[in-house]
Amino acid sequence: MNSNNSISKAVKILCDGGLVAFPTETVYGLGADAMNSRAAERIFQVKKRPRNHPLIVHVSSIYLAKKIVINWPKQADDFANKFWPGPMTLVFKKNNILPECVTAGYDTVAVRIPSNITAQTLLKEFAHSGSGYVAAPSANIYGSLSNTSYSDVRAAIGKNLTTSDLILEGNGCSYGVESTIIDFSSKRLAILRPGSITRNNIQKSLGLNIQETELNKSTPLVSGSTKRHYCPKTPLYVMVYPELVKRLGELLMKNVSNKKFFYWGFKSFTEISSCLNQEIAPDNAVDYAKQLYLKLNELDRKKYECIFFESPPKNAEWEAINNRLEKASVQL
Ligand code: TXA
Ligand code: MG
Repeated sequence: MNSNNSISKAVKILCDGGLVAFPTETVYGLGADAMNSRAAERIFQVKKRPRNHPLIVHVSSIYLAKKIVINWPKQADDFANKFWPGPMTLVFKKNNILPECVTAGYDTVAVRIPSNITAQTLLKEFAHSGSGYVAAPSANIYGSLSNTSYSDVRAAIGKNLTTSDLILEGNGCSYGVESTIIDFSSKRLAILRPGSITRNNIQKSLGLNIQETELNKSTPLVSGSTKRHYCPKTPLYVMVYPELVKRLGELLMKNVSNKKFFYWGFKSFTEISSCLNQEIAPDNAVDYAKQLYLKLNELDRKKYECIFFESPPKNAEWEAINNRLEKASVQL
């Protein structure tokens, strides 16, 4: 947990138009005052993010969320009351209060109330001393791995920040993958990005069965909707165990130059080789998600020739993880 001192410093930085990277219960966000277009513009520069990818606006209360939205359907109250504060983002038709760059010129806005204590304190304090609206995408270079620890954020974007910016310390990324994005801006409710809250959670809590994600031309570009995203620097291959045995087995046999490989799966890889490091992955989706970006960042630092993950089960609990792995991996 951060001291009050560092939160006050972070609030001052936001008020002065600087950037603050802060932990949320999903991944670290790179925040700026959403009402300050120059500050929000810098997020795009630091992340090298295309301007047509809108930012999620983080707030400390439903009251503040409603103030930037023109059409808040009744059903959105059920979602907000059930899942906020928490790892869920809701998309609505917006009014004209926010600067254009935050919403990338679209007529919708994505908003969320995080539950992480550092994020909450920051947002509450910023609602007292500043606008209370923090635009924050994940704190990483566009297209690469999201980050769930202070040191990974610093390694990824630290050199692009200035002394007027700050990375808050905190270990609170307890979910480990990004929020679930629900679209309330079109006629039919849709999940734009599967995330920490699963279809099953929504079904159980609200009795609602949300069908396949519907993306169309007027839907803003959700990062995960691009084919490649969340990519480690090291080539990642994700495959079912029998295929893995075949491919990795062949690679190890032909490996005359002693290249190093890594395997992360649910059962151990039987072929023993000094060129292969292996670890058993958590067999439940909650722990797996918590470790995913930490593990991929760690493996990137170790500079393996390539890494192999055994495919997780294909069910609702693992949907967000499978979605991230599909974008992050090399397609064969
Ligand atoms: O868990 C999370 O959602 C994290 C933490 C920091 O809150 N944030 C995050 O932000 O993952 P980002 O920018 O990396 O991914 C948010 C996605 C982007 O793909 C963006 O295009 C989409 O949300 N998005 C933002 N505004 C939108 C809108 N108005 N309509 C549809 N999608 C939107
Ligand atoms: Mg992102």
